[in-house]
Amino acid sequence: MTTDTKPRVRIFDTTLRDGEQSPGATMTHEEKLEIAALLDEMGVDIIEAGFPIASEGDFAAVSEIARQTKDATVCGLARANLKDIDRCWEAVRHAASPRIHTFIGTSPLHRAIPDLTMDEMADRIHETVTHARNLCDDVQWSPMDATRTEWDYLARVVRIAIAAGASTINIPDTVGYTAPRESADLIRRLIAEVEGAEDVVFATHCHNDLGMATANALAAVEGGARQIECTINGLGERAGNTALEEVVMALRVRGDIMPYETGVDPSKIMAISRRVSAVSGFAVQPNKAIVGKNAFAHESGIHQDGMLKNRENFEIMRPEDIGLSGTSLPLGKHSGRAALRAKLESLGYAVEDNQLMDVFVRFKALADRKKEVLDDDLVALMQSEERSQQDTIRLEHLRVVCGTDGPAEAELRLSVDGTSKQAKASGDGPVDAAFNAVKALIDHRARLQLYQVAAVTEGTDAQATVTVRMEEEGRIVTGASADTDTVTASAKAYVNALNRLMVRRGKAGGDRAEVSYKDAG
Ligand code: KIV
Ligand code: ZN
Repeated sequence: MTTDTKPRVRIFDTTLRDGEQSPGATMTHEEKLEIAALLDEMGVDIIEAGFPIASEGDFAAVSEIARQTKDATVCGLARANLKDIDRCWEAVRHAASPRIHTFIGTSPLHRAIPDLTMDEMADRIHETVTHARNLCDDVQWSPMDATRTEWDYLARVVRIAIAAGASTINIPDTVGYTAPRESADLIRRLIAEVEGAEDVVFATHCHNDLGMATANALAAVEGGARQIECTINGLGERAGNTALEEVVMALRVRGDIMPYETGVDPSKIMAISRRVSAVSGFAVQPNKAIVGKNAFAHESGIHQDGMLKNRENFEIMRPEDIGLSGTSLPLGKHSGRAALRAKLESLGYAVEDNQLMDVFVRFKALADRKKEVLDDDLVALMQSEERSQQDTIRLEHLRVVCGTDGPAEAELRLSVDGTSKQAKASGDGPVDAAFNAVKALIDHRARLQLYQVAAVTEGTDAQATVTVRMEEEGRIVTGASADTDTVTASAKAYVNALNRLMVRRGKAGGDRAEVSYKDAG
């Protein structure tokens, strides 16, 4: 029997904290619980479930995730003050394995914000890490913007945090500024030169502003980091965070030169990627590594020929490795419920009997309009079904007249809390007319920040997925939907975003905009 002696790298997922911080990626309470359950199931070591002091909603989600999680450590974020840390502990203490993650910005730019001298900040770090450690055995500490912090000061504060009882030291590249060699050297030097470093785990937390987040995280591992902080699909503010699927698969595929193991089951990657994309409203770009629609597509004649002769010619990993079924037969209008259920299961959707009835009706409507219903069609259908499940405003009817002459005219009926309401409006094109008709029925001051259309499959009968992002008084919401009719998909996505806006308005006191990550005090 051989024993695997590869060092273990812990996977710390922050989709529900740093990922959710992405403007418009707000998830509902139920969605957060579902994603946390999937993360636990796939073998992630630590789930950063949220920022408990940020809002009542965050607190409730972190507490509930702490209660429901079976295997993973559940972590909450706290700024460097006692109130934040107490609130964080109140939420995570329900977990079988709780962790408090406290941080403060240590670079010159960040030190200026709470206006602390270097000595005052050092004292604050000692006080807050000690406080966290008195509450919880597992404390993680982060010097935010570590990669732009002066070396001497960074080494000094890391030593203080270790002496005060932090067992994980996370080194964030907050603005995605570092590069692989520097990322590795920084961790290596901290481990070599800081007193007590041998007793703690060093973590790497990278942002993707220069497109180097995955490379920087893997380089940090080579430098001695044993925890990678990442998000599903690389979700995160600006250009996002290190993508979980990328580091897990890179370590797996290139185990020959990066001999480290993770506890993540890669066959769960595709299912969670789809769920995160659906609930966050952030579509995965087609050419995204590992989980993009084209990641395993071989279109060119030379590649196809090579693939047929030997898959390894052009494939360094198999679609099955990440949970994508190999070849797949499309469904059509004669397919029955059993075939639909089996196909959905193969795509990672376990549907209850009552949900299957609804999905089947929508599937039949789609199959009537499309000759073949492909896997991607079903994923788009499931994503819009799930996104709109709790919507109280729904599109019932839409007819638009448009063309080369004159403005477009839309006639629309919405169901609002079960009551049908109608409106007519004109606009500069069919989408504008449809949106104006919605606006005539649902009063709002939200500004459209993003309107994006993508074809799900090829052909003129393809479904379009539409994503809209809107902002009203600092609240940002995203709506998405799919339909073979682009204008209908657009109106549904707009209505979906408005539903989310109503929910956010309803719990205005719970909005996270009240707290700033920069405010340590
Ligand atoms: O990017 C960052 O610095 C963070 C910290 C809060 C860890 O997300
Ligand atoms: Zn971050």
